[in-house]
Amino acid sequence: MTSPSMSDRIAMHNANVLQIGMFGANCSSSRTATRVPERWSASWSDCLALAKMADEAGIDFMLPIGRWKGYGGETDFHGTTLETITWASGLLGATKCITVFGTVHAPLFHPLVAAKQMVTADNIGGGRFGLNIVAGWNEGEFEMFGVEQREHDERYVFAEEWLNVIKRAWSQADDFDFDGRWFKLERVRAKPKPVGGSRPLIMNAGSSGAGQRFAMRNCDAFFTASGATRTSLEGMAQRVAEIKGEARSIGREINVYSIGQVICRPTKKEAEEYHRYANVENADWGAVERMLELRDITRANTNPEEFETRRRYFATIAIGGYPFVGSPDHIAEELAIASRAGVRGIALSLVNFVAELPYFRDEVLPRLARMGLRVAA
Ligand SMILES: Cc1cc2nc3c(=O)[nH]c(=O)nc-3n(C[C@H](O)[C@H](O)[C@H](O)COP(=O)(O)O)c2cc1C
Repeated sequence: MTSPSMSDRIAMHNANVLQIGMFGANCSSSRTATRVPERWSASWSDCLALAKMADEAGIDFMLPIGRWKGYGGETDFHGTTLETITWASGLLGATKCITVFGTVHAPLFHPLVAAKQMVTADNIGGGRFGLNIVAGWNEGEFEMFGVEQREHDERYVFAEEWLNVIKRAWSQADDFDFDGRWFKLERVRAKPKPVGGSRPLIMNAGSSGAGQRFAMRNCDAFFTASGATRTSLEGMAQRVAEIKGEARSIGREINVYSIGQVICRPTKKEAEEYHRYANVENADWGAVERMLELRDITRANTNPEEFETRRRYFATIAIGGYPFVGSPDHIAEELAIASRAGVRGIALSLVNFVAELPYFRDEVLPRLARMGLRVAA
């Protein structure tokens, strides 16, 4: 992996057909707003243990969440979070094969600072750093920085300019000037470059039309987690086909990824019971309601029955992802369906990654290898 090409990076340095990642390990409780005592701590020692275990198991990537402020509730869901580029740097230094992303809010970082932080991470990891670019999302977080969010679609115009600065800093050998709408930069000099003359894999997870168009023009990978992808694999297949079709219409190929929660147990019954126990019976309803409020769904503007359905649904899907809940056979089959539908990779969350990954590694990964979707670890 001394000199990775762009296609090596896109393949995450291996031959897996279906790439599997761990999603949200840098945030307390990860993606399950639950009160169960075994919920994920997101401490550095737990993150490090997970990264080493995942690396040895042949897991392809770790995708953190860029989160600055918790959602409150009894557990202060996402109240404790590790900053993602420094987190990635530490994990890259301790692992050999796994790709680790940083999730970066474009409006909060000067692009030349971000470019150098990311190049540092990439050099530490020998070309295994990836960028998940976020154009802007939670109002409360931006307020905390004294940064006003731009009008929705303009966020992506800004993000495109921000990314252009970064791409030039990563690629241009000579000093350059940049004369943009927001950035007017003189005699920019940026060394070293990313490893191997290529650049980090770039992905985006916008759900709006503007977000999707931005990803198609500027990114290698697009994460989709909206609408039907949360409840049905047919829905996921349809979204993938739409996105790939749209990309092709502008002459681009884009890899499509999705997200989900895994609860894998020897039997369907055990998995479903734990899912209900962790996600619903022990939901942190205060945090769930705060997240719904950010989507403008409140008790005040929604009738009680509808509100109850919405909050239960949101807790059940682990705040937005397909529930892979069941036995190893069932989960391997569902992941295979997603792969056959054209999904290049899936970022998965577990209630407690370190406690639950060994069973997934020992039971699900070998099944996927036998199906030809992954290389045996
Ligand atoms: C897989 C995935 C990861 C995301 N990660 C983050 C994140 O870490 N931080 C954040 O503020 N937003 C995150 N988002 C939100 C998106 O970047 C985007 O802001 C959101 O989907 C709204 O889309 P829009 O900007 O097109 O309206 C994520 C979304 C998805 C589906």
